[in-house]
Amino acid sequence: MDMKKCVLVSGGAGFIGSHVTVELIEAGYDVIVADNMSNCDMTCFEGVKKITGRDDIPFIKMDFCDPVATELLFTTHAIDAVIHFAGFKAVGESVAEPLKYYRNNLESFINVIESAKAHGCGNILFSSSATVYGEPEKLPVTEETPRQPATSPYGNTKQMCEDILRDSVKAYPEVRGIALRYFNPIGAHPSALIGELPRGVPNNLVPFITQTAVGKRECLSVFGDDYPTPDGTCQRDFIDIVDLAKAHVFAVRRMLDGKMKKEYEIFNVGTGKPLSVMELINGFEKANGLKLNYRIAPRRAGDVTAIWADPTLANEDLGWKAERDIEDTLAAAWAWEKHLAGKD
Ligand code: UD1
Repeated sequence: MDMKKCVLVSGGAGFIGSHVTVELIEAGYDVIVADNMSNCDMTCFEGVKKITGRDDIPFIKMDFCDPVATELLFTTHAIDAVIHFAGFKAVGESVAEPLKYYRNNLESFINVIESAKAHGCGNILFSSSATVYGEPEKLPVTEETPRQPATSPYGNTKQMCEDILRDSVKAYPEVRGIALRYFNPIGAHPSALIGELPRGVPNNLVPFITQTAVGKRECLSVFGDDYPTPDGTCQRDFIDIVDLAKAHVFAVRRMLDGKMKKEYEIFNVGTGKPLSVMELINGFEKANGLKLNYRIAPRRAGDVTAIWADPTLANEDLGWKAERDIEDTLAAAWAWEKHLAGKD
């Protein structure tokens, strides 16, 4: 009989980690969720248990910046692969507190690789970001598109963690790595039991939209309508969170089945279709039959004009493709916000 493979999801109680946990379990993997709960509560982990009907998913409250705790985790569990999400992700905060970001995001990843390697479980998947491309000269971006110098310490930690993984793979034969570069993950699980839980005022567009629609925020600011794009607002590659989560299952399977073409691989995780901020707002109104209160505001510092993925490599090599319709995604985001409002 096949032994079930076990995947450690660091930062598994957060927005992306909880959706990935669901998809891994539904694909037949055992999952260990570990999180220091510094940026979430148990809402999503409880949601994961409900969706999967599994009450026995191991949850460990721990900080991967602690090398002893990390080592203990690998000593006490048979882990076949690691997906590393545990990290801070607020761009503005990283500018104000760079050392907090460098210490947390780099130390935790180094500890994970070191212990994984020591315990012969060298399959490491890192959650990277399209932010590594900066303002690209040519669109869409492929994995070969050169990275640009990071514009924030947060973005820099994504680049540095990619490099740490690349160099570890090169030096240690027992380590393999995949970096997934996410474009703009949005939406929520169709069950409305897990989703984004921003603390304080949301930085990202879709949580701000849903909080405005539900009445928690008065008005959405559209940051700039004078960009050199068709409608003057920025263009992004908004990728459904469940689609994005499924990409991890393909990547983990590829590593565990020994199907990687190189020991270190990078994949863009996006739809390949640009959508402007205005188009997204209109799509949200249409999908949910409501009107959103918004106004045009000045540009936000640090925003790139336009970026979207060429997802060909993920489509062909990983066998993964974004499938969900944007209106379904925006309906799911709204259902999740209403679910939260019902619990207040
Ligand atoms: C940002 C980060 C990226 C990170 C991602 C996580 C940068 C440069 N990029 O992407 O590294 O991985 O979040 O999801 O910081 N907008 C508004 N009004 C709002 C909020 C946003 O108009 O209230 C606009 C922004 O100007 C931007 C677009 O919506 O044009 C998307 O913004 P956001 O959701 O914050 O994502 P990114 O900045 O693309």
